[in-house]
Amino acid sequence: MKTKVVMLSEKTIDENIINEAGSIIKHGGLVAFPTETVYGLGANALDVDAVTKIFVAKGRPQDNPLIIHVADYDIEPYVKDVPLVAKEIMKRFWPGPITIILEKTDLVPGVTSANLPTVGVRMPLNNIARSLIRAAGVPIAAPSANISGRPSPTDMKSCVDDLNGKVDFILGGENSIFGVESTIVDCTVSPVCILRPGAITLEMLKDVDNDIYIDPAVLSKPTGDFKPKAPGMKYRHYAPKAPVKIIDGDINKVVAKINEMVLNYIEQGKKVGIIATDETKESYDKGTVASLGARSHIDDISKNLFRVLRSFDNLDIDIILCEAFEEIGVGTAIMNRLKKSAGFDILKI
Ligand code: TXA
Ligand code: MG
Repeated sequence: MKTKVVMLSEKTIDENIINEAGSIIKHGGLVAFPTETVYGLGANALDVDAVTKIFVAKGRPQDNPLIIHVADYDIEPYVKDVPLVAKEIMKRFWPGPITIILEKTDLVPGVTSANLPTVGVRMPLNNIARSLIRAAGVPIAAPSANISGRPSPTDMKSCVDDLNGKVDFILGGENSIFGVESTIVDCTVSPVCILRPGAITLEMLKDVDNDIYIDPAVLSKPTGDFKPKAPGMKYRHYAPKAPVKIIDGDINKVVAKINEMVLNYIEQGKKVGIIATDETKESYDKGTVASLGARSHIDDISKNLFRVLRSFDNLDIDIILCEAFEEIGVGTAIMNRLKKSAGFDILKI
């Protein structure tokens, strides 16, 4: 398949291009597009054949449901009942990086929700994304626009790397401003439960309802018989080509430990990548060092995370050593993604 690739800007959206992409969605095709969290791979959420193409293009397991993206607050056609707490979350955080799980209506086909009785709904903040949904005239089902298991794309180039030749259209735009996928909240249960941490943090959600909590499965290693509430949580995710190890503890000790491990790996003839921060990057003199940004600007760390994980792929790196982050605020989302990319290989010192 020939993929058309066009770069747009959120500030000066070319309506002709948006209408062309919207028409592709409406007629059953696949369009990758930017959002404020990560790039999405979109299809008409109400069209069984179109949604099936998403699973094929990504190599995604069929039991992993998709979330649907809307351009306005009228979600009644797709969901049965919107509890007050969900309404309040929508009012405060939409458009923005949070997905709300609600009971679905029959209009949403089983292939979209992986036969669950519920569906995740999100209104993205990104202007290109919302314009595309309006132009398509249908809700857009969109997982992250990566090959399944790989780090999510936060820039157009990563989308092209993963999906060129597999989709009809790649709409480029600015790099994603948050860089981690949306927070997912299950609003079919009381109290509301966070199934995936994101840029809308636990602390922010507690301001809506103090009882909101994070599903314990989010932070710990899945066990053999583990049945997660968000089916996606059971799969290996966000993995660059080389294995990742996280080193957690007092930052000075972490730097010393990583330097010691690097020497050992080099002795074994291995090429080592180090994921550091602006505060520590000068402390490593061997290995290929990439900084996620300053710890004092934690939002930059989440914004750069997936791009840095992907940056090691073309460097023949054998092992990636990564500093840990504190699990508060958006740090919870960062550590959730890092732990999964490392397959929970964490060294606590
Ligand atoms: O930020 C985002 O949410 C991005 C952009 C493109 O909007 N999308 C995204 O989609 O991250 P995806 O498919 O990569 O991740 C969706 C996650 C999966 O882990 C899936 O299992 C979970 O949401 N999920 C979807 N529907 C669900 C449902 N009805 N109940 C529980 N979990 C659900
Ligand atoms: Mg994904």
